[in-house]
Amino acid sequence: MVEHENFRPLRLHTARYRAHTTNAALCVHSAGRREPAPADHEPDRLGEELNNVDPHFWHNRWIRNEVGFHQGEVNPHLREYWICLGPLPEETVFVPLCGKAHDLAWLREQGHAVVGVELSPVACRDFFTERGIEPSVESDERFTRYFHDGIELWCGDYFELSAGNVPNIDLIYDRAALIALPEAMRQRYVAHLTALSREGTRTLLITLDYPPQDFQGPPFAVGDDEVRDHYAATHELTRLHHQRIPADDPLAQRGLIDATESVFRMRKRR
Ligand SMILES: C[S@@+](CC[C@H](N)C(=O)[O-])C[C@H]1O[C@@H](n2cnc3c(N)ncnc32)[C@H](O)[C@@H]1O
Repeated sequence: MVEHENFRPLRLHTARYRAHTTNAALCVHSAGRREPAPADHEPDRLGEELNNVDPHFWHNRWIRNEVGFHQGEVNPHLREYWICLGPLPEETVFVPLCGKAHDLAWLREQGHAVVGVELSPVACRDFFTERGIEPSVESDERFTRYFHDGIELWCGDYFELSAGNVPNIDLIYDRAALIALPEAMRQRYVAHLTALSREGTRTLLITLDYPPQDFQGPPFAVGDDEVRDHYAATHELTRLHHQRIPADDPLAQRGLIDATESVFRMRKRR
């Protein structure tokens, strides 16, 4: 189940609960296109979004333990669709904006070396202490690196990470990273991720979309057309899943009844 209990709807959406679910056979569908969203509200929200989601926002979330995005279990889409990347156990997975997700441990259980980057030291430390692990710790002026048995968490700003820090990225897992960022930051996030990747790097990307007027992110609405705009020039892109969020999802229970999740497989071209 996706948990977002700290995310507040901006206002409830009154549209009926449209049946608009899946057309996603495993590993085969191409990314869909959508007409661009109307731009009438965008200039008003941009400044608000940037102010809302600066590093202090995230640090405060973790310090106050207001981490509704943290799932109590391994993400079901990861379990179902990871195989679609054709992952080999010896390949390294990069997890941007990783929080303390159980997904990190699951990926390690598949045999992968796992490298995450996360702003919050609370999240990085909690990941290990909640497993009864005392990680090794190294620091330089930009990052503190916590590591133990094939999992390393780089604590610091994702945008400061260089390809030298994380060479040999074979696979990427993006859950609640792209959609955690406001529109004005997403282009930069994608450019940086693409720069850290190499030819043949495969990515599993999970996105959320909803009528923007229904909710104030994060998580932000990222439509399939935007995913395509970000990645189609540099990646082969396949949509694996597109479905309304379940009725028991905390976002749906808070009134966001018109939200869909998509899952993409991507492969970086040269
Ligand atoms: C919505 S949470 C998702 C966490 C994780 N992917 C998950 O599925 O639970 C977004 C995370 O990104 C982190 N974050 C935000 N901006 C960041 C940045 N510039 N560099 C590194 N981490 C960042 C936040 O602290 C937060 O833990």
